[in-house]
Amino acid sequence: RKKGRLIIVAYRLPFKIIKNESGTSLFQNSGGLVSAVLSLAQGSNNTSFEFEDKIQWIGYTDNTAEELEGVTLENDNFKAHPVFISQELNDNYYEGFCNDLIWPLFHYFPTIAKFETKFFEAYQEANLLFYDAMVDVIQPDDVIWIHDYQLMLLPDLIRQKFPKNKIGFFFHIPFPSFEIFRLLPSIWREAIIDGIMGADVVGFHTNDYVEYFLKAVRMVIGQGNRMHYVNLNNRLVKVDAFPISIDYKKFNDAFDDPLVIKARHDARTPLMEKVIFSVDRLDYSKGLLNRLKGYERFLEQYEEWHGRVSFVMMVVPSRDQIEQYQQMKSEIDQTVGRIGAQYGKINWQPIIYQYRSMPFEELVGLYTASDVALITPVRDGMNLVCKEYVASRKDEQGVLILSEMAGAAAELGEALIINPTDSQDIADAINKALEMEPEDQRKRMVAMQQRLREYDVFAWTNDFFTQMIMIDQEHKRLKL
Ligand code: UDP
Ligand code: G6P
Repeated sequence: RKKGRLIIVAYRLPFKIIKNESGTSLFQNSGGLVSAVLSLAQGSNNTSFEFEDKIQWIGYTDNTAEELEGVTLENDNFKAHPVFISQELNDNYYEGFCNDLIWPLFHYFPTIAKFETKFFEAYQEANLLFYDAMVDVIQPDDVIWIHDYQLMLLPDLIRQKFPKNKIGFFFHIPFPSFEIFRLLPSIWREAIIDGIMGADVVGFHTNDYVEYFLKAVRMVIGQGNRMHYVNLNNRLVKVDAFPISIDYKKFNDAFDDPLVIKARHDARTPLMEKVIFSVDRLDYSKGLLNRLKGYERFLEQYEEWHGRVSFVMMVVPSRDQIEQYQQMKSEIDQTVGRIGAQYGKINWQPIIYQYRSMPFEELVGLYTASDVALITPVRDGMNLVCKEYVASRKDEQGVLILSEMAGAAAELGEALIINPTDSQDIADAINKALEMEPEDQRKRMVAMQQRLREYDVFAWTNDFFTQMIMIDQEHKRLKL
């Protein structure tokens, strides 16, 4: 068994660092990536690799270097190596290039993408800051796993300096078709493709994203592929689909957790006969307005449900410094207000809208209190909320309405699949979901649960990691 350390690089560190008079506290995030990586280092490691030391995690912090001087940035699981980025640079890098250009463009919103030279310069500079933070950390046997669209230039920077280390890159958002990708100035798109291709293994959520990326590689740097292997000066890069998943057991077991039972009861009690819910970050890619329009059409056409259904729409604040996000917030506020004013009664609110984040127990309480999950992104790399909803339904009840534009739709065909731009489709699906017989609900739920149980987040991590460490043998085996 090979031995070495795992180095994770992502825009955000795995914990929040809070400094006050009594010292420094680290609050570990509960996000998908953190639990996936943890599971690999503890217990569920089925790979032929043995982890030495804690997981090293390189990521941005908004604390200053002076604030963190002398502070030990490690807990039982992770040792953090912070990357300090000035406010001005971060405005052009994170808010600018990442979230005012790449995010809208790659989610098929080219008209709101801002193509500014200073954004690209900031992106290069910030990727170099991540690189600088890693140079003294990396040792010969370390396996390096880089995540997402904030760090597309990093794999190649690392490859130039550390040609022998295994490098993986995983892309968590959609990779768009070439007609969208080519909107980027040619120097930028070459930098992006060269940057990503510094990795040994490049992973996406779906086969479509893999195909689009391979086409971009062919068009931009003139390299084709054989069975998803791209040959770059006798160095092979494997490009493949690894659909990210969730901690199935954690969500399934939570059904019987006393805190979740209480949260379920608290959520259910004040609501009407049937409950529909949605949970998303406030983001134009999530189709919140399309969803509201679809629900409005449903109220217009299916009057028999008036006074009998509650739609709980939870919206989690996100990227609120960016203009598009602020604008979206006021459009949602207005639309919810308008629908409520038109259809509401003294004793019935058709939409219960909240703008905040929720603790885990409340989230699962809501998942398990609801009859219908209404997940309608206009574009989503994967969408974990719908997978969490399915996993948490230990009672095998509930109906998932899911947009065909979510990566998850490729795995959850038993959901009621809708087109998010078609309000009528959404309205009819809501009615169908509310009327669905328990036996039909169970059949669909069980099929989806079985798939998610088999390929949970631990299988995902193991799968990707195995590809990284086995790549040399694989090349020999295939005689590539
Ligand atoms: N989530 C959260 N806080 C909340 C509500 C949800 O952390 O108040 C989590 C949710 O459990 C899910 C993630 O946020 O794991 C959202 O992931 P998804 O893939 O659906 O969308 P993203 O936000 O990554 O675009
Ligand atoms: C998506 C992206 C992540 C990002 C997250 C939250 O899931 O793929 O890279 O971290 O959204 O967005 P934020 O801008 O708050 O990091």
